[in-house]
Amino acid sequence: MKFRSIKGTKDILPGEVETWQQVESTIRQIMRVYNYHEIRTPIFETTSLFSRSIGELTDIVSKEMYTFTDRSDESLTLRPEGTASVLRAYLQNNLGELAPNTKLYYIGPMFRQERPQAGRLRQFHQFGAEALGSSSPQLDTEMMLLARDILRSAGVESFDLKVNSVGCQNCRPAYKKLLVAELKRLQEKLTLESQSRIEKNPLRVLDSKNEGDARITAHLPLMKDHLCKECADHFGSVQSILRSLSIPYAIDGRLVRGLDYYTRTAFEITSSALGSQDALVGGGRYDLLTEELGGKATPGVGFAAGIERLIMALDKKGIARPAGPKLFLIGLDEPSRSLTFLRACELREKGISVELDYLGRSIKAQLREASRQQADYVIVVGERELQTKSVSLKEMKTGSEKKIHIDEIAAALR
Ligand code: HAM
Repeated sequence: MKFRSIKGTKDILPGEVETWQQVESTIRQIMRVYNYHEIRTPIFETTSLFSRSIGELTDIVSKEMYTFTDRSDESLTLRPEGTASVLRAYLQNNLGELAPNTKLYYIGPMFRQERPQAGRLRQFHQFGAEALGSSSPQLDTEMMLLARDILRSAGVESFDLKVNSVGCQNCRPAYKKLLVAELKRLQEKLTLESQSRIEKNPLRVLDSKNEGDARITAHLPLMKDHLCKECADHFGSVQSILRSLSIPYAIDGRLVRGLDYYTRTAFEITSSALGSQDALVGGGRYDLLTEELGGKATPGVGFAAGIERLIMALDKKGIARPAGPKLFLIGLDEPSRSLTFLRACELREKGISVELDYLGRSIKAQLREASRQQADYVIVVGERELQTKSVSLKEMKTGSEKKIHIDEIAAALR
């Protein structure tokens, strides 16, 4: 084979696609319950939209984006996530003027040039939601519940919710200073990757997956213990709502997330069914992001989840089977094949799913094909049927047959 799919991308074939359709329909249904409206944004945007919002120094922007220059010398990037595009569309189309509390959701492909492994792709799919216009902690918890309800309804039964607060522009700088001083003291013991983050992105050092780093930094001060009063109150409210709804959660003071736009709440939902890439859902509040993008200050909160990972975490696998046609029409000779094709066209126009053999195969092969495709009914047309205009409608499951007029197939299938 000369051509193969690009590393880290996947074909979703019939047999798998049914699970995807089911998951997508669950997402839409639950988004409707929570009154979120779908938005579809372009797959590529100006590069600076992402570098501005996600952060120049993040892994995503510094080494994972698919960035290219088009023929007009403009730098464009395949979207690595959905939040930046949704906010760009929100600002550009003045959505906030129509609805002071705008609730949007999206489903679609995202692109990151990561090292491919199980659960980590270069083209993957996310669904996500963003609520813009309110800084109420109720919306932070609504996001967690919305994600939880979609996971559950899709069939993921066990997962863990972790929450943290990453503070705001008032309390984070002082904490960062404290953390950098502490990290410098330990610098030589840390991995090179963590060392390089001390100045650039010190909070991410706490999030290091390296065991040695985790041990060394275990006793360092955490943002959640250095919040200003407003952030502490906000974090307290989020937790008190979670408790009053009896939602199990754990506070993870080291949860930082790989995108720079978060303020206050950050959360993740993980599943032990996933192995090392265990994050199913990531989200949080980003109250300064619209201003960063040149818009009016508008608080916001949201989440996104990976659909490939959700499907990997499904407790009941193998639901999928491509749905078969309602009717398989078999023609035995040339005139019968012409007639069955015309009949198929008429029946399809009436909304009935019909399949045929286009390969001129024997009756035996055609019957085998009808059964492989799980057709509900079969009709065989030959010379006799053409003359008498009477055909026999056979139900594949029971084997029962019924004589009908060739013009009454649609009525008989209703
Ligand atoms: P994120 O944590 O970068 O957040 O991605 C969210 C989810 O997308 C992850 O938890 C994971 O399930 C999935 N995901 C990410 N990268 C990959 C990959 N390479 N392969 C497969 N799945 C992947 C965001 O994207 C933020 N925009 C979330 C957000 C929305 N925050 C506020 N609003």
